Amino acid sequence: MRINLEPTASLGRQLTLGASITLLCAIAEILLGALLPNASMTTRVFRAAGMWVTLAGVHIGAKAVLTGYQGRKNKCYATLYMLCVASVVVVSLVNVIELALIQYGNAHMVRSDIMESSLVFALPYAVAVLVVQSTLGLHLGIVTALMCAVVFSVYSPIPSLALGLIATSSVAGCLVFQRVRSRGSYIEAALRIALVMAPFAIISFAIVTPTSVFDAAARLLGCLLSGFLSALGALAITPFVEYFAGYASDMRLIEMATLDHPLLKELSIQAPGTWNHSMVIGMMVESAADAIGANPVVCRVGAYFHDIGKTKKPVYFVENQSPGENRHDKLSPPMSALIIRSHVKDGIELARKYKLPKVIEDMIPQHHGTSVIDYFYEKAKKEAEESGRSVEEVDRSLYQYPGPKPQTREAGLLMLADGIEAAARTLSEPSQDRIQGLVQKMLNKVFASGELNECELTLQDLHCIAKCFTRVLTGIYHQRIAYAEPAEKVVTTAEVSAAREVRENLKRLGIE
Ligand SMILES: [Fe+2]
Ligand SMILES: [Fe+2]
Repeated sequence: MRINLEPTASLGRQLTLGASITLLCAIAEILLGALLPNASMTTRVFRAAGMWVTLAGVHIGAKAVLTGYQGRKNKCYATLYMLCVASVVVVSLVNVIELALIQYGNAHMVRSDIMESSLVFALPYAVAVLVVQSTLGLHLGIVTALMCAVVFSVYSPIPSLALGLIATSSVAGCLVFQRVRSRGSYIEAALRIALVMAPFAIISFAIVTPTSVFDAAARLLGCLLSGFLSALGALAITPFVEYFAGYASDMRLIEMATLDHPLLKELSIQAPGTWNHSMVIGMMVESAADAIGANPVVCRVGAYFHDIGKTKKPVYFVENQSPGENRHDKLSPPMSALIIRSHVKDGIELARKYKLPKVIEDMIPQHHGTSVIDYFYEKAKKEAEESGRSVEEVDRSLYQYPGPKPQTREAGLLMLADGIEAAARTLSEPSQDRIQGLVQKMLNKVFASGELNECELTLQDLHCIAKCFTRVLTGIYHQRIAYAEPAEKVVTTAEVSAAREVRENLKRLGIE
């Protein structure tokens, strides 16, 4: 966490936030306040005003402390508050249904010993928190947990107990959702929420004595019901948020990564070399993301789609060329660079055409950042020298990717893996030591180039990443133990030309 107290919010953002908080307070007061007996209009207005000030305080505090909450777009804050409003509506609805069931039970003498106040444990407080966590990330999920805790505790029979119960159980559910790998994660979140709520239910026995064993059991079972209603609500609401707000949950990203996606099918047919490169990178970034606490799902899916633009002109990329074939031999360096650079533009166009989530689309330009295609830049300078022109005349911008630089840790990881995997393919004898040396050399090169300046990868992260990349690449490319060779090894012409090609590839990647 990093402290940042700069007042950077624009007037438009402040107005959006003010309007969103006002809407949330008004809806909460209308729906939840109406369920409380005998409150005058003055009391209700002051109660809503107090809640407004508290929510604004939570926002200011989160903005100062949580880096993941700072500098978000208006749409992001608006989505968060709309989900809080949706949560208030869902909780009010469930509350009304439960009260109706109690009254039905009393009227028909089914059970008359369960108090209405015991039902507060069975309300789905964490619906919004789970949706926000899965679509907007952990930091916003935690802020939503605090905001929901403030709103719901105001209308609870025991506010201090409710504040602790809702805040801690929601944050617990949020933490489980950091690693959503299957629908089973929803069950896990529901059980974790119930488990964290249970001690609060037991504490409530001392504050409001249960009327019977059934009343006590209702509070404990209510915790379980609350967890499952929250998880079910989140499961139902998340697809709508993905569709209307354009965010992608980990579940949607996992569904995209099943290789049934038309873009990935096209990539595997048109550019098998690129497809293979993307799969290996997927393994590398997933492993490193797990180690440094970045989102492994975003990393893996980003890796699968990062080079989809290469399907337009696959044979101009080294990984799709047959030995001895190089289309660039007949092209001038600026033309070669133009074709290579165009895979980023083509990739973005395809991402938009196929409506890929924004987080994946953003990784397409960011995986190259503003780096220079060294091989063709150097080739152009050499040609200029040979023709008697000054190397200064070579326009560097023609060989530079448009950017932006990686803006997230996930995009930074992808940039590192992209260059390192391509370089590892060119190693003639990929032993563990050689792979380790190459990984370190490439990491240092990218770090020194300043391309990682705008993402939050630390030196400690880079150390972890180097270890993970080496482990994955060694597993894939490490040479098998050689069978017995003849005493005198004969170097064939083919081996000489293969070695020359390896050196050529390394130069192309800017390593030698
Ligand atoms: Fe690329
Ligand atoms: Fe790539």
